[in-house]
Amino acid sequence: MVKLDRETWDAARLRVQLLGWYKCNQRDLPWRRSRDPYAIWVSEIMLQQTRVAVVVERYQAFLERFPTLISLALAPEQEVLALWSGLGYYRRARMLHKAAQFVAEQHQGNLPNSADDLRALPGIGAYTAAAIASIAHGQGVAVVDGNVERVLCRLAGWEASGRKGGAALRRDIEELAAHLLDPEHPGDFNQAMMELGATVCTPRNPQCLVCPLSARCKTRGEHKTTPRPRMLSREVAHALSVRMSPNPGTGPGSREVLLEQRPQSVTVMPGLWELPALPDAAVAQQDLRMTVRHAIMQVNYYVRIRTVFEDDVPALTVPGGERRWVPLYEAATMALTGLTRKVLSRAHLLTVVPLDAIAESPEIDVL
Ligand code: ADE
Repeated sequence: MVKLDRETWDAARLRVQLLGWYKCNQRDLPWRRSRDPYAIWVSEIMLQQTRVAVVVERYQAFLERFPTLISLALAPEQEVLALWSGLGYYRRARMLHKAAQFVAEQHQGNLPNSADDLRALPGIGAYTAAAIASIAHGQGVAVVDGNVERVLCRLAGWEASGRKGGAALRRDIEELAAHLLDPEHPGDFNQAMMELGATVCTPRNPQCLVCPLSARCKTRGEHKTTPRPRMLSREVAHALSVRMSPNPGTGPGSREVLLEQRPQSVTVMPGLWELPALPDAAVAQQDLRMTVRHAIMQVNYYVRIRTVFEDDVPALTVPGGERRWVPLYEAATMALTGLTRKVLSRAHLLTVVPLDAIAESPEIDVL
């Protein structure tokens, strides 16, 4: 048990300092303008493992297409995945969709209020449940995500790799978070802690000079964080085949691209559409259309894109999933992998999603 003596942890003062800082310094983020539990839920799921800048790009479009929980529940899964494109970790979108259907059927479309009831829904863990319950319903439950954990460890002088690592440290962190939480403003307090971790008390180069809590901090940025894992490198190749539509018109449907659907049975990004993968990463210079770097988790993929003319398509190795010629305007609305969207954008074959939004987005979906 962590010792929570009043002098060390003058929670009342810390709350005033933190909330005062948050009031003046919080980022103007779209989900902070809403108290709608559904909109907050969507934002919290998107924010898991994804940078805020990327979420801001995708959040508005998602809520415009699915403004209510019921509209999301009624949508086909492929459309939900298409709107998720660029955010990566597509399993989150599937779980969000499933949970919306469950709430529509079992709770008359009303998201449960309490953190405990929220946790019973697919894809909602302790952290997300606490965030929704505190922000949307003012419930006094503390959020402990990676950012909050780092802030508290630095404040208390606890080392992640120290003697007390693991479950005991995690219990102490949760206990301290619950002790410090402002019972009057739990939603703002939780968001302020996360904001401090994301913008000031960052893993590397924390900005202690502007931190509202630095006077009471045991480490002031000297706290050691676990080193960044080393990136691995892999080389792969994909085919880019574009043809004139066999049903020519003057509209945007006059060109088509060859896409392949990843089988539902694979563990990584099942059901998403991509440029056909080639068995050999080596591509002859005259066939090389572009080379793209694409980071997925700890792997840097160096991707060669090979131009394949329509006549040569039958010689491409047997596809793993369904293969289709897709009009370019339709491709833009499909559930594409992040890499495919990036390549089509760079080739000026897709103009809908800004390239910046997907440049470094994580992308993995393990069932
Ligand atoms: N990270 C996840 N959710 C957040 C929120 N509501 N505010 C700040 N950072 C977050």
